[in-house]
Amino acid sequence: MGTTIDLNTDRLTVINHALVRHKLHLLRDKDTSIKLFRELVNELALLEAYEALRDLPLEEVEVETPLERTTCERLTGKKLVVIPILRAGLGMVDGVLELVPTARVGHLGMQRNPDTHEPEQYYCKLPNDIDKRVCLIVDPMLATGGSLIAAINFLREEGASDIRCLTLVSCPEGINNVLAADPDVQIFTCAVDRQLNERAYILPGLGDAGDRIYGTKG
Ligand code: PRP
Ligand code: URA
Repeated sequence: MGTTIDLNTDRLTVINHALVRHKLHLLRDKDTSIKLFRELVNELALLEAYEALRDLPLEEVEVETPLERTTCERLTGKKLVVIPILRAGLGMVDGVLELVPTARVGHLGMQRNPDTHEPEQYYCKLPNDIDKRVCLIVDPMLATGGSLIAAINFLREEGASDIRCLTLVSCPEGINNVLAADPDVQIFTCAVDRQLNERAYILPGLGDAGDRIYGTKG
């Protein structure tokens, strides 16, 4: 039997929307072109961010409509930083920025060692006030969870308090590992797949996301 996960935890949100499911079937198809693959990754990132940011704090504000004065709401409080895990996470950034054009972008370079499957950090550039920002980590794939856990631990050390992870395809092992590694982090994903194979690739998955976005071979 495969690994099971607690789908009832409020720290995991699976975006179960018809549009998302339709776009996912195209994303998984090995015959989907690079151009369409890139477009889909960004579209799914936008839809995910929309869900992940639904609870941003609001404050009341008085507005004069052409007819009368009324009370409305506007965003208040923490600003955002989008943090792609290079390289595949870069493919999701424009989608999130389409929704939140004023967000800052930080970069974390993380590569899985092909033999050990352990993540190795090779680049980092972040805004210097991530402790005051909602941090949206974006990476299409959550496999063993090693890359995401390393990114979360690093951001915690840098002072990040509100960390939300957006992934497109995840698997039970990775989700369990990430939720166990950090007591507060939230995961948003479009799909929870069956399992990992012996090379730590997600099944059925979509293959190597970075290679499919950038047209490189693994
Ligand atoms: C992929 C993916 C994640 C990681 C997931 O990146 O984009 O970052 O693997 O695997 P994990 O959950 O087992 O850590 P990869 O290391 O292949 O680098 P790339 O983005 O440069 O292709
Ligand atoms: N990274 C990918 O790009 N795909 C997987 O299935 C696992 C890790």
